[in-house]
Amino acid sequence: MASTRNLLELKLPDFDPEVDGIIRQEMLRNEETLNLIASENYPPKSSMKALSSMLSGIYSEGYPGERYYRGLQHIDRLESLALERARRVFGAEHANVQALSGSNANIAAYLGLLQLGDRILSMEIDSGGHLSHGAKVNVVSKMFEVRQYGVDPATGLLDYDAIRAQALEFRPKLIVCGASAYPRTIDFERFARIAREVGALLLADISHIAGLVVAGLHPSPVPHCDVVTTTTHKTLRMTRGALILCRREHAAKIDRAVFPVLQGGPHQSNIAAIAVGLRHLETPEYRQYVRDVVTNARRLAEELLARGLRVVSGGTDNHLLLVDLEPQGIDGDAASIRLEEAHIVVNKNKVPGDKGTAKKPFGIRLGTPAVTTRGMGPAQMTRIAGWVAELLARPADDAVRDRVRDEVRALCREFPIYRPTF
Ligand SMILES: Cc1ncc(COP(=O)(O)O)c(C=O)c1O
Repeated sequence: MASTRNLLELKLPDFDPEVDGIIRQEMLRNEETLNLIASENYPPKSSMKALSSMLSGIYSEGYPGERYYRGLQHIDRLESLALERARRVFGAEHANVQALSGSNANIAAYLGLLQLGDRILSMEIDSGGHLSHGAKVNVVSKMFEVRQYGVDPATGLLDYDAIRAQALEFRPKLIVCGASAYPRTIDFERFARIAREVGALLLADISHIAGLVVAGLHPSPVPHCDVVTTTTHKTLRMTRGALILCRREHAAKIDRAVFPVLQGGPHQSNIAAIAVGLRHLETPEYRQYVRDVVTNARRLAEELLARGLRVVSGGTDNHLLLVDLEPQGIDGDAASIRLEEAHIVVNKNKVPGDKGTAKKPFGIRLGTPAVTTRGMGPAQMTRIAGWVAELLARPADDAVRDRVRDEVRALCREFPIYRPTF
């Protein structure tokens, strides 16, 4: 008995130095790296504290007030609080906080709104859509009949007339809008008009831009859509998870699709962390943070353009931008490896009209949420643009790489992510 109790009490570094060491190394890597991954961020310590509570061991199948387990009075209060905050922050009629990820949230929404085999019109992955919108390799394309729209290859922009024509011809039951890699404002109202005209339901996946929506820097899809889904860990800067927001009329179907159709018991530690994260969203500091993310992305785009790089659509309205590397004759894979050697992390990405493959596309995607969380501003964006341009212009020059790496690490030391006591 005594030894079992001792095991319970041991701290991570004492019980498992191997895993503890890997976590510390990853923290150090982040501290010394400029993270320009558009989908990543650094969550608040208060959210991470909630995530690592003993709630990880709780089972709570069902919803507040209608559980299959006893002993859940506090958990019911917790989930109800998260739901209330989610509805308030987004101005939604109904919320669900149990989906384990953005992909699950989307699949649950499809299962709630559609019959298997129904038609979905969504954005193709090569133009910026997400796997879970029905890409060929994803299970959604096997469950439903999916047709996809792209962007105009010349402008990189959504062509709403072309999407309307596709919708009129295909007659989908659901239209999905929202993207993983689209740097411009999405006209949700226009999508709603198209959906109404063809008698389709409308889902917006705002995983990337949700923070901008909360801060009023991107029009909200909530008034226009049947369902809105979002991950919680990108511009929202919470720990990993997802939210589903919907009109009251769809509430019962959406809740049932999440549980018991798609998932079992919810992760209450995630829900606690989401509740804390939602409280962050209501602070003036968070809203200022999102304004800074957008200012920084604009500066980064302008400075890259000024250095002769081809920024898709000529800039950005949000937190991310795409760079077409075809003129440089370097593919996105090679570019991202070279940048990483200099401690600048981005992801390779297809760009409109890209002749490459998913593994070797001709673009990279850059985002400012994580570097802005560190407190970096426009002056630092100018320096970052200079380094990126230099590395891409001289990808074989090891002296450039070594100098940039030293300068990047020095900048990172000026802007620590978390205070060292973490
Ligand atoms: C638009 C969009 N939807 C859904 C997801 C999926 O989120 P998850 O990785 O949590 O399943 C992502 C993640 O990158 C995304 O960009």
